[in-house]
Amino acid sequence: MTTNMKANAQISFRKLWASDAMALRVHLLRLDPESRRMRFGTPVTDYFIEHYAQNALGSHSIAHGYFVDGVLRGVAELRGFRGVAGGEAEAAFSVENDFQNKGIGTELFGRTVLAARNRGISKLFVNFLSQNARMQAIAKKFDAVVTYDSDGGHAQIEAPRANALSIWKEALTDGQDLADSVMQTHSRALRSA
Ligand SMILES: CC(C)(COP(=O)(O)OP(=O)(O)OC[C@H]1O[C@@H](n2cnc3c(N)ncnc32)[C@H](O)[C@@H]1OP(=O)(O)O)[C@@H](O)C(=O)NCCC(=O)NCCS
Repeated sequence: MTTNMKANAQISFRKLWASDAMALRVHLLRLDPESRRMRFGTPVTDYFIEHYAQNALGSHSIAHGYFVDGVLRGVAELRGFRGVAGGEAEAAFSVENDFQNKGIGTELFGRTVLAARNRGISKLFVNFLSQNARMQAIAKKFDAVVTYDSDGGHAQIEAPRANALSIWKEALTDGQDLADSVMQTHSRALRSA
């Protein structure tokens, strides 16, 4: 819960679907200029984001979202994997300014590592600007090896092999997330009726 949030705000996490492309676009456009630069590694235009969001969600990616009162405020994207055991993938994160530094990025990171693990990904990469202390702090919580070069910081996380427990954990979380999401949509519809 953030100090900028209503006390009774409804919070939820869930995987994003292709139909969330518009919510992703609006979320990325809402990032303040510094967060936008940190997310994409360079300042990018609205046009770039619009095009990016249109193509980001689909079978080639797994994205998790953080919602406050039904509005997407944080996203973790896992992409570049090919469904090959022992493969590699890249992850990227964005949390809107008012919701940063409250543990949301850490929660999204954990879900992303679990999703990667359950898809046979053994190496997960996160690229970030060298001055991105938060991303570096989160990566270290997940035992990432962090290196720097002229392009910035690079975190490499070794994902353990999937097992019955890790698959069960993701399925259970997805089920709970979906139930939360349906209940919250229903209660918002009742409140606005
Ligand atoms: C990076 C980002 C995803 C992190 O999400 P978040 O919700 O703000 O992060 P969390 O609150 O989960 O964790 C931040 C951690 O950084 C630590 N931190 C914050 N400022 C810090 C600083 N100046 N130096 C060191 N650590 C710092 C916090 O203490 C926290 O660690 P803790 O939980 O051990 O206390 C978010 O800030 C963001 O979207 N930034 C802009 C986009 C971006 O940088 N994306 C990453 C590149 S893909």
